[in-house]
Amino acid sequence: MCGIVGYAGQDPAVPFLLAGLNRLEYRGYDSAGIAVLDEGAVQFVKAVGRIAELESALAGQPLSGQVGVGHTRWATHGRPSEQNAHPHLGCHGDVAVAHNGIIENHSALRRELEAAGHVFRSETDSEVVVHLLEDYAHLPFKEALQACTARLRGTYALAVVRTKDPGAVGAARQDSPLLVGIGEGENMLASDIPALISRTRKVVVVEDGEVVVITAEAAHIYKAGGEVHRPPLEVSWNLEEAERGGFAHFMIKEIQEQPKALRQTMAGRLSEDLDQIALEVDPGPLPERLWFVACGTSYHACLVGRRLAEDVLGIPAEADLASEFRYRHLKLGPQDTVIAVSQSGETLDTLSAIRRAKSMGARVIAITNVIGSSISREADINLPTLAGPEIAVASSKAYTTQILTLTFLVLAYAKASGLLAAQEEARWARDLWALPEKAELILQRAGEIEAVAKRLAAAKDVFYVGRGTDYAVAMEGQLKLKEISYLHAEALAAGELKHGTLALIEPGVPVVALLTQGELLDKTLSNLAEIKARGGWIYGITSHDLSGHQELDQGFLLPACHDALAPVLAALPLQLLAYHAAVARGTDIDKPRNLAKSVTVE
Ligand code: M6R
Repeated sequence: MCGIVGYAGQDPAVPFLLAGLNRLEYRGYDSAGIAVLDEGAVQFVKAVGRIAELESALAGQPLSGQVGVGHTRWATHGRPSEQNAHPHLGCHGDVAVAHNGIIENHSALRRELEAAGHVFRSETDSEVVVHLLEDYAHLPFKEALQACTARLRGTYALAVVRTKDPGAVGAARQDSPLLVGIGEGENMLASDIPALISRTRKVVVVEDGEVVVITAEAAHIYKAGGEVHRPPLEVSWNLEEAERGGFAHFMIKEIQEQPKALRQTMAGRLSEDLDQIALEVDPGPLPERLWFVACGTSYHACLVGRRLAEDVLGIPAEADLASEFRYRHLKLGPQDTVIAVSQSGETLDTLSAIRRAKSMGARVIAITNVIGSSISREADINLPTLAGPEIAVASSKAYTTQILTLTFLVLAYAKASGLLAAQEEARWARDLWALPEKAELILQRAGEIEAVAKRLAAAKDVFYVGRGTDYAVAMEGQLKLKEISYLHAEALAAGELKHGTLALIEPGVPVVALLTQGELLDKTLSNLAEIKARGGWIYGITSHDLSGHQELDQGFLLPACHDALAPVLAALPLQLLAYHAAVARGTDIDKPRNLAKSVTVE
């Protein structure tokens, strides 16, 4: 949600800022802008709509200068418009500010600043920041930023240029992601890694309460007590992974990347002889209770993880939406472990949930895909999913690698608690190792799914059903279809149909059935018979031989696998179904309307 970039160096700033904004597009935005310092003045260009609009505006009004900031805005306070787009300039035009987050006390500050004579030009909460900075123009950059942020309540990542410091970009962070990229003869700022990796792999994560001043020569980070020296992290993502290559969309590229992502996530977590689980960290003693907490797709991965934990570990396990969990009146303590799952590692609800759990003494294990993200840093233990950058708003490779990582975690607990016999462990290891190859086989059959997707694309409603783990996977299938094709879809526990939703089944209504859990197959097939009797059209995704069964109208047979690992494989045809249905409907697949990749508001 919103993206910021900043540059201080010897090259023209605009190419870096534009490329950075393009790589942050996935976060979701509806307007964009750039401000640079050029010959002692702030010059800026803003545009509503895509970065392409900003590029054409810049073509008509080129900006030069080696210091600048850029922003993509996802509207919260005030509609998308040039006036509301960032960077915002103060009354005298010598300070420009780009802001991510929400300034909660903006109304009070605005009243105060207006009373003092400041003239506001936008409806945004963010504009108060630039007027405050104008009032602190007499202070050195660092002190001005500190004085300004001391007045703010809410969440922010700020990037600032001012004519008084022609070679510098200032920044500050509170609960919104902000990174400093350390280059040679240049230093940069960005909300996320993809914006930096064309220039540097060395990244310092800015922490809450810190302010930053970068110039071409140096990057200084300050906390209340003085300057902070943190060694940069080395990022392993490469530029190719952050670009679309020859693919029509990031989403299909990321779907296709899953075998590689699974291999990377598994590497080093299995012994060389492929007979042991070798998680890189000791998860600690088996807790009395496990809580799986996340949002959206990551929550669906948690539902799979919860079921596995119950089955393998035999302890009570619960999965909850982070936005619900954080407001429950739970009494947690050291006997509880909370497993927080988040691709971005920045989702505010999940972050708030783990803060709450930690404050009550619970242990927190994070599963995230982004190095240095807030959730990964605040957890007691971080287990990365090594999926590489996921740019499309709809999560695909992050989801399957989350399930894989959750499986490793559950097995590591089982091993450490003596619940996993050597023979059983070796079987798990072999089954896990075989997953990427099976994923490849499925992806080679994408053509089969395209035809079914066209059928779904023409429907009014699509239902997804399954039992047990298959129900969790059905929930992910329906979310994927909804978010990128804008079709209405609903997931149901197959046994629940007859308690209401069966009333919506009439001839031709498509139903996607998940049938991977051997012990529940017969039960699900009986529910499918009820759908069939009412004329529903059933597409089954199964890892079991169902020849001889008449319930399915059409089906996709997954390679045979351990039932507990089937969610990873079943996810692939579901993602392809959603993707091809969206292609058929001509939607904006990588950036679906109203959605953002990194949800940093409540
Ligand atoms: O970054 P996170 O995994 O914490 O994000 C959680 C959800 O916002 C995310 O999974 C969302 O549901 C995706 N767009 C689904 O494809």
